[in-house]
This record gives sequence, C-alpha cells and structure tokens, in this order.
Amino acid sequence: MQHITMSPSICLATLLLALVSPSLASASINNNNGGAVAAASVPTATQFLQAHNDARRDVGVAPLTWNPSLEQDAKRYAGALGIRCRLETLEDIPKFYPQNTYWGSGYQDGAAVTGWWVYGRRWYDRRANSCAPGKECESYKMVVRNTTRELGCARRTCRSSPDTVAVCSYFPAGDYDEPPY
Ligand SMILES: *[C@@H]1O[C@H](CO)[C@@H](O)[C@H](O)[C@H]1NC(C)=O
Repeated sequence: MQHITMSPSICLATLLLALVSPSLASASINNNNGGAVAAASVPTATQFLQAHNDARRDVGVAPLTWNPSLEQDAKRYAGALGIRCRLETLEDIPKFYPQNTYWGSGYQDGAAVTGWWVYGRRWYDRRANSCAPGKECESYKMVVRNTTRELGCARRTCRSSPDTVAVCSYFPAGDYDEPPY
C-alpha cells in the first residue's frame, strides 16, 4: 500500500466503504488533487463492473457483463449532467434504460461511485422489500437486481468544478415491485 495523505472527508468515505466491503475500499482510495492512486491502473469500466459484481456475489446473484452500447448511453447522460453538475432529469436526453446516477464532491472513480450506491445496502430491508424510513436504497437494489444481465457506466468530471457525476445504465429493465433477489 502506498503512503498517501487523505483529507478527513475522503478518509471518512474510505472508512465507510471499508465497512461495506474491504475489496471496494482498496480500489477506491483517492488523493486530494483528483487522481486515483490505488486504482490508477484499473480501467474505469473494470472498476464499475467489479464493484457491481462484488456486491452481487455477496448476496448470491449472478454477475453482470459490460455492454458498450449501455456505456455510450451512460456517457451521453453523464456528459449532460456534468454541464450543470447536479442530479436532474434531463428532458432533452432520452432515457432508454434504467439508470443509477451519482454526484460526488471532487474526483471519484468507478469503484467509489458504485461503493456509494452499495452503501445503501444498510438501509435495505429484504423481508419488507423496502428502504428504512427516510433512507435511500433504490440504487443498491438496482446494483443487485437478479434479472439484470448487462451494464455500461461512465463517470465525468464536471465542466466547471472538480466534482464527479456518474451514470450506469442497465439491461434489461426489471419489475421494480419485485424484490431484487
Ligand atoms: C430473483 O429474486 C426473486 C426474489 O427472491 C425470485 O423470486 C426470482 O426467482 C429470482 N430470479 C432469478 C432470475 O434469479
């Protein structure tokens, strides 16, 4: 492990990720000037894919495969979100696939983005198939949905800040009233 310095917020994020998944945490350590350190040699697509499949394996759900058409879809959407750098519904960009979307402060790589979605696992009550009151776990449910077979994702640094937006597009769409696994 390289010696790196981390800001308290990054440090906390890493600690939280470590509680979720040790393998995620080791792939998601970022330095303060926007570069991924530990994950620098891991392609973004691989980071997204592995982090999804780690979370799926944890609950006994089959892995996803990468689909470049879905990646193009995600790139288009992430690029558009990066203009105003906030999560919003973009009426002028058609949404062909179910998505997970993300906004994060500073540089966040594919593993960190997915780790944030997977963090919602703690709010998911499988028996009731619902999220804890006032908590968000729909992104987690999308990550582990057992009828999904393919994904494609993209992260973008915002146009006028160092912050990150990201999108994953999934195929096929599922029945979202059903439990994900
Ligand atoms: C997905 O999970 C649901 C809920 O547990 C289950 O009823 C269904 O058979 C599973 N489908 C697949 C394809 O594994």
